[in-house]
Amino acid sequence: MSTVVRDSLRAAIARDSAATLMARCAALAACTDKPGEILRTFLSPAMELVHERMRPWLKSAGMEVSVDRAGSLRALYPSQAGLDAPRLAIGSHLDTVPNAGAYDGVLGVLMGLALVEALGGRRLPFAIEVVGFSDEEGTRFGVPFIGSRALVNRLSDALLLSKDEDGLTIGDALSRYAAAHREAVDPLLDPRTAGYLEFHIEQGPVLENRNLALGIVQALAGQSRCHLVFHGRAGHAGTTPMQLRRDALAAAAEWVSFVERTALSFSGLVATVGQIAAEPGGVNVIPGVVRCSLDVRHADDAVRSHAVKVVLDEARSIASRRGLSVEAEEYHTQSAVHLDPTMISLADSAVHQAGYKTMRITSGAGHDAMVMAEHMPAAMVFLRNPGGVSHHPDESVLEVDVAAAVHMGLHFLDEFAVFLEKKESDRLA
Ligand code: GLV
Ligand code: MN
Ligand code: MN
Repeated sequence: MSTVVRDSLRAAIARDSAATLMARCAALAACTDKPGEILRTFLSPAMELVHERMRPWLKSAGMEVSVDRAGSLRALYPSQAGLDAPRLAIGSHLDTVPNAGAYDGVLGVLMGLALVEALGGRRLPFAIEVVGFSDEEGTRFGVPFIGSRALVNRLSDALLLSKDEDGLTIGDALSRYAAAHREAVDPLLDPRTAGYLEFHIEQGPVLENRNLALGIVQALAGQSRCHLVFHGRAGHAGTTPMQLRRDALAAAAEWVSFVERTALSFSGLVATVGQIAAEPGGVNVIPGVVRCSLDVRHADDAVRSHAVKVVLDEARSIASRRGLSVEAEEYHTQSAVHLDPTMISLADSAVHQAGYKTMRITSGAGHDAMVMAEHMPAAMVFLRNPGGVSHHPDESVLEVDVAAAVHMGLHFLDEFAVFLEKKESDRLA
């Protein structure tokens, strides 16, 4: 069959796969822990439902399906070369933020399935493991990447002590999950895994502005997450003169504005106070305690660390000027990651072979690829996100762009086979 004919066949298969993938995203969007919006958290009932819905799809594509003891869905498409063959992991996450869209994470997992289905039973010189990570967003415990960290043995003792709203630790939640799922497998990634590929919606407007369906990620910004608690003094809202108050919310509000001004003053810095809660929360009570979160990101780790220090120092100085105290803790840091140049060039060449143009892009969002890339060569492909809206129910993706991604992904699998063959011949030389 000529290359042109084979490629137009692939383009047709990719179009069918894209239609199926869009329908599957809609079906999985109905799996929610909170009726009326999309919310799926680590090890939750809605996550179990997603696994249940995906299981038959994965099985009928010829994959062996399991869950691991960190709650991630794992599906293996064996290689023609037997059990010792190298593997390519293709994945993303199945958890969501509160009131999420239908594509963040899920799309990347379904892309892995779509690529295996598009092979139509053809086996490759490597196995494909599709992974649906149990947690990337950190919605339940505040700490992200629990699923991918379990795969690469990066669940530290300190991390396992993080608590959810009910005071349950990650360690306890994992033990309960393992007790209820005796069949769950060891999460550790098979040592034969030679690469990781993740597809994701861009979650921003860059590709749309450049009129491109696909982008190749070259780097991902580092991130810090902090907890802050301002301690003032609660009191009567009618009788306490303004000069005598130690209002924790007024202090926090001053600090939130400072965070915004600081982020604006460093090029490329983003900083967000996404959670804030005042206690005791009475309409006629001066807030005595305020708890808030802080998320800071930059592609340069030195700029991010400096900015975190600046804003935490300012929290202390605002508190002291107002006669309050503040506790501030940076409980999560993830360094910026540069993806593997060889994997980037395989992805680049796959996009061009599929007949598309692309660009290199830096991700401000965190992704499982950040964790995986510290342990193996990783590539990440972004799909255009119309309107650039994400972490929002209006999040969207175009079916034609999904078809472009499937088409490109099939070329990537060929490129990866050549890459492995060369690596093996270099090793033997
Ligand atoms: C996840 O989407 C993140 O970037 O926080
Ligand atoms: Mn997200
Ligand atoms: Mn995501």
